[in-house]
Amino acid sequence: MKILVINGPNLNMLGIREPDIYGRETYATLLEKIGTHCKAKGLDVEFFQSNHEGSLVDKIQEAYGRIDGIVINPGAYTHTSVALLDALKAVSIPAVEVHISEVDKREEFRQISYVRAACFAVITGHGTDGYLEAVDLLAERCGKK
Ligand code: DQA
Repeated sequence: MKILVINGPNLNMLGIREPDIYGRETYATLLEKIGTHCKAKGLDVEFFQSNHEGSLVDKIQEAYGRIDGIVINPGAYTHTSVALLDALKAVSIPAVEVHISEVDKREEFRQISYVRAACFAVITGHGTDGYLEAVDLLAERCGKK
């Protein structure tokens, strides 16, 4: 089973950006943590991060026929992007939406998610462990624990 972990804008700044909200773990450490988790579960994993909406759309399209599950933290595009929603719907790959912070308890504009309608689960406010939980949900969903 192959999982694609997609991170949107500013998530490459983890560890530097607003540590009180997003923690001190860096993006590189996050990838290591997810990689180790996937390896232990016998899952293949691929990572992608971009600050550009179109590049994220391209990556989702490229996943078609190749990837079994998507973990996506679209960052700020969560709250604005119909294009990401449509891309996830277009490929119909099981997807889980992840947010490091508890978006539903933050500013009103963060409580709107366009991509949510194309995801079978949402994990918010569990810090970076949320990505591992999302991987586990995908593995369960696709029958490989
Ligand atoms: C985020 C929450 C978003 O509102 C914000 O724009 C981010 C990160 C999170 O992981 O908590 O960039 O997706």
